[in-house]
Amino acid sequence: MNLEISFPMPKSLLVLILLLSSISPLAAQPQLDLMPLPQNVQLGSGQLLINQSFSVGFTGDKDARLQAAAGRFLQHLSRQTAIPLDTRPSDGANGTLVIAVEHASKQYPELGEDEAYELQVSPSGARLTAPTTLGAMHGLETFLQLVQPSPAGFAVPALVIKDQPRFPWRGLMLDVARRFEPISAIKRTLDGMEALKFNVLHLHFSDDQGFRVESKNFPKLQEKGSDGLYYTQDDIRDLIAYAADRGIRVIPEFDMPGHSISWFAGYPDLASAPGPYRIERTWGIHNPAMDPTRESTYKFLDKFVDEMAGLFPDHYFHIGGDEVNGKQWDANPKIQEFMHSHAIKNDQDLQAYFNSRLEKIVSKHHKLMIGWDEILRPDMPQTIVIQSWRGQASLAQAAKQGYRGLLSSGYYLDLMWPAVMHYNVDPLSGDAANLTPEQKQLILGGEACLWSEYVSPENFDSRLWPRAAAVAERLWSAQNVRDVNSMYQRLEAMRTWLEWLGNTHVSSYYLMLHRLAGEENIGPLKVLGDVVEPVKDYTREDLASTPATSLTPLNRLVDAVPPESEKGRQFADMVQQVVAGKATPALYAQIRAELTLWRANDSRLQPLLQHSLLLKEVAPLSHNLSACAATGLQAIDYLTGGQRPPESWTTQQLSMLQQAMKPGHAQLLLMVAAPIESLVRASAGLHPASAARRRRSSARSGK
Ligand code: ACM
Repeated sequence: MNLEISFPMPKSLLVLILLLSSISPLAAQPQLDLMPLPQNVQLGSGQLLINQSFSVGFTGDKDARLQAAAGRFLQHLSRQTAIPLDTRPSDGANGTLVIAVEHASKQYPELGEDEAYELQVSPSGARLTAPTTLGAMHGLETFLQLVQPSPAGFAVPALVIKDQPRFPWRGLMLDVARRFEPISAIKRTLDGMEALKFNVLHLHFSDDQGFRVESKNFPKLQEKGSDGLYYTQDDIRDLIAYAADRGIRVIPEFDMPGHSISWFAGYPDLASAPGPYRIERTWGIHNPAMDPTRESTYKFLDKFVDEMAGLFPDHYFHIGGDEVNGKQWDANPKIQEFMHSHAIKNDQDLQAYFNSRLEKIVSKHHKLMIGWDEILRPDMPQTIVIQSWRGQASLAQAAKQGYRGLLSSGYYLDLMWPAVMHYNVDPLSGDAANLTPEQKQLILGGEACLWSEYVSPENFDSRLWPRAAAVAERLWSAQNVRDVNSMYQRLEAMRTWLEWLGNTHVSSYYLMLHRLAGEENIGPLKVLGDVVEPVKDYTREDLASTPATSLTPLNRLVDAVPPESEKGRQFADMVQQVVAGKATPALYAQIRAELTLWRANDSRLQPLLQHSLLLKEVAPLSHNLSACAATGLQAIDYLTGGQRPPESWTTQQLSMLQQAMKPGHAQLLLMVAAPIESLVRASAGLHPASAARRRRSSARSGK
């Protein structure tokens, strides 16, 4: 029997499958924890068992990259199942899994290559066909995600998957300038990206706080601009090869003419005001900017771009271009005189002049220029690509003028949003939804961005994973794949899978809690940590008594806890059932068990908080958790006892909960306060609190 499932699965179809599964071989089928969801899955019957004789063979082209990918695939499969396997793919056409590639991709991936694949699995073997190496590599990742334990051993369900990406540019931008990330962290990120079918790593290499690539032409860039934390050119070549092996392009960004103080530390003459300059440690938009009026600036940039164009093989070269406030230009009489004599009316026009000079340099070195929204001006050639941090409106505006674009607005992972908020952002929604089909073609995809004000090598992975996987799915899967519950279920599977692949978002949480506690028993601290989240957007700046800098240690509870509390989300879902009148005795028992644990936690945690300076700040939060939980238990008593609480109790509890919901203590949010408020309101027969009031702000400001 074959069942065709095109995602998303309507509820009725799901019910049908569940019904059929009780009377068919599908009963043995595990659920498919695939992410991103393939375009089309046809379930078959039976399964392919993975045992010690599992092997990979080839019938088509088998270039070195494909063979390396097949070797890595076998290593992953062996680790995943703990079955020792011969991890060398065979030379010939025999294999449990046979790969048939029509023609090898070039060693370095290119925008727009065919990335489709088809995977057929039957109880007797599997076949992976793809027009290119890249497609086959994606199919191998899908296969790994399909391996599940079954009563007969590890197995992949019989099925046919036909898959290809919705967008050709599926990127992740990492800010390694504000805070440096070691090569090892970037490599494990690339492993995670490969698993999720991302195909572009964009590195924001320079900003006011650091210049991170070795330049041989201008060595003072890294010598004076990096505190010794930079990538050598050998590091870069190694990283590019590692990425290319995984089908991932590497785009360098050197932000100019603003966000460039780190350049001026070594080369003050580039700036629009005399130095000396030092690496900037604070965030925000700073005044220094390159001097666009001096020929020496362009001579420098020509030599610089020449060197970097040789180092980075990608056709695209990102010049930043965001957030220039023009203050140094306004204060410099020579620049003002230049503007006057060249009929340049304002700072935006001066930046446009700079961009068009820079674009000529970039194209002279055979690269295509990318920049943030600000570089869009009608006189720029249509070869440039606009990366939008401002939203679909500016993306649509660019497309209407014939420019290609990428969406990053809505994908800023550093804003600490829950995965669903990123998931719901589509490059072709909002103003972009009204574009003509030709204009829509100009929207190449998007990039999730991780700006690193509060990102260290320790919490780097937890700021990325698993939420970036939601963006990966948005950029790969069909536009109508939107089932949030399904996404969260699969995100949970990805959380573990990404850790298997060497990422440390789960393990680093434990280690950071251990450091905070200074002792082995982190139990009560974890109970609290599991139900709090860092404050959202840029609130952390607003709440700080002294502003953080790039040298501030990131060792507090706010740095350790994941951006999205899984426990908090699950608790809110359970309370939702209560509010909807669908609670069962078992559900009430589960809610009570959580609340009872939280109510008792403060007295268990307080001794620990007293002996760790770093933990003192969370004492009020811990108290609030227990107080809220006590209220929640009372509300459940009222609800299950069929009795309304006295009005005075309701008023008092709602006011206490309001306080507990406010961001403030330790720059954390107590995620269970709002669901407990819902319990109190339900117990008192009040309407649920307005969703709008609680909706998290999506406002953002500049970097
Ligand atoms: C940006 O957020 N300024 C690119």
